[in-house]
Amino acid sequence: MYKITTIPGDGIGKEVMKPTIEILETLNTQFEFIHKPAGAECYKEYGTNLPEDTIETTKKTDSTLFGAVTSIPQQKSAIVTLRRILDLYVNQRPIKSYTNPDINFTIIRENSEGLYSHLEVENPEKQEVSAYRKITYKGCERISEYAFNYAKKTGHKKVTASHKADLLPLTDGIFKDEFYKVATKYPQIKAEDYYIDTTAMYLITRPQDFDVIVTTNLFGDILSDEAGGLLGSLGLIPSANIGSNNGLFEPVHGSAPDIAGLNKANPIAMILSASLMLEFLNLTDEALKLQNAVYKVIDENKVKTPDMGGHSNTQQMADAILHKIE
Ligand code: NAI
Ligand code: MG
Repeated sequence: MYKITTIPGDGIGKEVMKPTIEILETLNTQFEFIHKPAGAECYKEYGTNLPEDTIETTKKTDSTLFGAVTSIPQQKSAIVTLRRILDLYVNQRPIKSYTNPDINFTIIRENSEGLYSHLEVENPEKQEVSAYRKITYKGCERISEYAFNYAKKTGHKKVTASHKADLLPLTDGIFKDEFYKVATKYPQIKAEDYYIDTTAMYLITRPQDFDVIVTTNLFGDILSDEAGGLLGSLGLIPSANIGSNNGLFEPVHGSAPDIAGLNKANPIAMILSASLMLEFLNLTDEALKLQNAVYKVIDENKVKTPDMGGHSNTQQMADAILHKIE
């Protein structure tokens, strides 16, 4: 029995969560889903966008499924807060095109340090502000270790580190050194590195060369969205946030107020996020079943939501996937 916190959130977050839970319930595994609020509607009701009870529940369960929330200026981002509290230092985004076999790689982004450590300082006398980029040996080692171990577990052959060590010899120098140190423990997996700008170009010109990419926080944020662009629709891209004891799985997209309530949202990103959760829980067969079902529906090219150029609605897409699960 696996206990899963579910946080549907706002807008289409709720609309894609519902069918995803229905699909998980048909698998041959016992789940207990514990629904908890977060986001803008939650703020209206409880005066906070992330209640303490929601946080405590995510700590106690095996993992969390997160839909999407609408940001509100008065409050800190619920998802960013959860990542920090649960120490989810890995942000993993598989980029797999179901129509172009050349596009099939995974980006592993360090999610707890780097330029997003919120270390910005003001110097009013000098009329300047600056941001620190914190990099730790431990942070570089654990993200590299995660990347190689992931490659090994999933049968990938190569890990590429992406950095700017020529211009940032201290921070990215450490990142690169730790990467190659960890690589020696995985002789069966090829290790290579590129500068971040070169990586960004190669993602477009030769995506087939990539297998697993590991990088620091800001670079990973940008590369992930660039790579997402290769797939066409945000409605197709899942992600995993993983720490030593916990995982949170969410589609890359937001609450999409422009289509909320219209039954138009593509549930695939949420369903594939659930399949990443199954991988995390070591339910590898179930994860594959779900991924293959999605693959078949896309391959048949009959049921398509509007973002994919079709006219099917959220439920029709979810039903089509459900029918393909063996
Ligand atoms: P968004 O991802 O919600 O929407 C961007 C565009 O993609 C919209 O045109 C939307 O209709 C489309 N889209 C997104 N997901 C789709 C799906 N599953 N199927 C079909 N079309 C889809 O980004 P936006 O509009 O910038 O943000 C809306 C709200 O969501 C904001 O409050 C933002 O802060 C929040 N947000 C929350 C995230 C999270 O909860 N992790 C992530 C990104 C944004
Ligand atoms: Mg981003």
